[in-house]
Amino acid sequence: MTNADTPRRNFYGRAHGKTLRASQKTYLAEDLDRLRLPGVSVQDNPDRAPLDLDTAFPGTGSLWLEVGFGGGEHMVHMAARNPGIRLIGCEPFVNGIAMLLGKIRVAGVENLRIHPADVRDLFDVLPDACVAKVFLNYPDPWPKARHHRRRFVTPGYLLPLARVTAPGAEFRVATDIPDYVRQTLEEVPPAGFTLERQAGPGAAWEDWLSTRYEQKALREGRDPHYLTFRRNG
Ligand SMILES: C[S@@+](CC[C@H](N)C(=O)[O-])C[C@H]1O[C@@H](n2cnc3c(N)ncnc32)[C@H](O)[C@@H]1O
Repeated sequence: MTNADTPRRNFYGRAHGKTLRASQKTYLAEDLDRLRLPGVSVQDNPDRAPLDLDTAFPGTGSLWLEVGFGGGEHMVHMAARNPGIRLIGCEPFVNGIAMLLGKIRVAGVENLRIHPADVRDLFDVLPDACVAKVFLNYPDPWPKARHHRRRFVTPGYLLPLARVTAPGAEFRVATDIPDYVRQTLEEVPPAGFTLERQAGPGAAWEDWLSTRYEQKALREGRDPHYLTFRRNG
């Protein structure tokens, strides 16, 4: 794909929030370049050439992906718990990226890389069938019916996700929005995944770490839902 062919995409989320603390500015200045996955942004790879993972993220461990890592607590938890894997996280919200970098310093984990922008940039350049596990934790809910097509669980995201996931790959979705569960159950299977498990409050995955958005949902009286899909083989 050439730069001219790169689809023009609308991103409706937030890229900036509250003013960053001095320490967070330091993390961004000192750590992001080292942890950024090279060859993903259009500036870095204008021709959208497929990523050579052996160079971009060397290692032999399975490749995992977290979409929209927010403050990064789940991502750092998974990287620390599974030192043999390689975990890529995508998040355009700079305050979240700074929070993740702070947590990486504390945890001292090395087996993760960041694309500090839209996950669709990564989908453009990842080789086929290279990802073994995907986390989508509390995706933006887009509650209004006219905005449901902006949700991650639509073909614009799910078909590229299906291309980059290996047969048998696990795809986890956590959400507190019943209508998001409905749309996930409707749209994920036709993209090439089979529902394996559907659970409610108190029945998260055994290695789950509750996220900031889950804590907010619980405080506000909404129930978590946990869905697990497998990529068809
Ligand atoms: C509701 S928050 C949840 C954050 C975190 N996963 C949690 O559970 O606390 C959704 C996150 O997805 C991110 N996001 C939205 N669209 C995205 C995209 N296209 N690529 C990557 N991240 C995205 C947003 O910036 C936001 O931080």
